Amino acid sequence: MEQRLPQHIAVIMDGNGRWAKDRGLPRSEGHLAGVNAVRTLVRECRRRGIGYVTVYAFSKENWQRPEKEVRFLFELFLRFIRQELPDLMKEDIRLAFIGDRKDLPFTVRQALEYALKKTADNRSMVFTLAISYSGREEILQAARRALAANLKPEELTEEVFRSFLYAPGTPDPDLVIRTSGEKRLSNFLLFQSAYAEFYFSSVLWPDFGPEELTKALDSYACRTRRFGRTSEQLGGQTATEGKKHE
Ligand code: IPE
Ligand code: IPE
Ligand code: MG
Repeated sequence: MEQRLPQHIAVIMDGNGRWAKDRGLPRSEGHLAGVNAVRTLVRECRRRGIGYVTVYAFSKENWQRPEKEVRFLFELFLRFIRQELPDLMKEDIRLAFIGDRKDLPFTVRQALEYALKKTADNRSMVFTLAISYSGREEILQAARRALAANLKPEELTEEVFRSFLYAPGTPDPDLVIRTSGEKRLSNFLLFQSAYAEFYFSSVLWPDFGPEELTKALDSYACRTRRFGRTSEQLGGQTATEGKKHE
């Protein structure tokens, strides 16, 4: 039987540091291994026909990490964007960005903007990088832009407000995955996750491969999404049916 797939998966990739520590390696090795897991995730999601994948690569709060680690991460992002571009083109994947562009080092911003433009017409999947991202900041900047647009209070509907978010064309995530056993949002997609299903895995991000993705998708397929309604209103599937596989 065809499995119900999420249209948009958002991933809080956590546990690179612990993965490295477990092996007696520097944290940077964990981040390097994490990049391979991102590549696998994107390829697998594309193969399975998932339309949108968003990965949380660096939060606003992550600027508080040691300068050396931050520098390493941005070098990694730069290399990643440049290296992935040919594959993104080949696989017809559009790159997108959410976060605070003005925080990015010039070279990263330049490579990013080049890749965004180059992949703009790709249609098979949207792969969004969240870098220097903060959900609260996204909401605040939307409010500021709404004010600057001189909207009347009654004109600011949910739909209009959404148009001021970073990626207005991207649907809300259906499934939010977080690895490494932490069960928190850490300021990720606060507005958009209102009705997301959550999947928490104890696996550290560099070890999150195709089998782990399958587990997350299987779990998602068994959930009953009620959006505030009763099971009877939804017809067919009952809440217990939704729960029994968890
Ligand atoms: C996630 O792994 C990657 C980033 C936040 C950039 P961490 O670096 O947070 O790894 P842990 O949580 O220390 O294991
Ligand atoms: C969340 O991971 C941010 C990213 C995955 C980029 P963190 O490791 O920074 O989150 P906290 O600090 O444990 O909440
Ligand atoms: Mg972490």
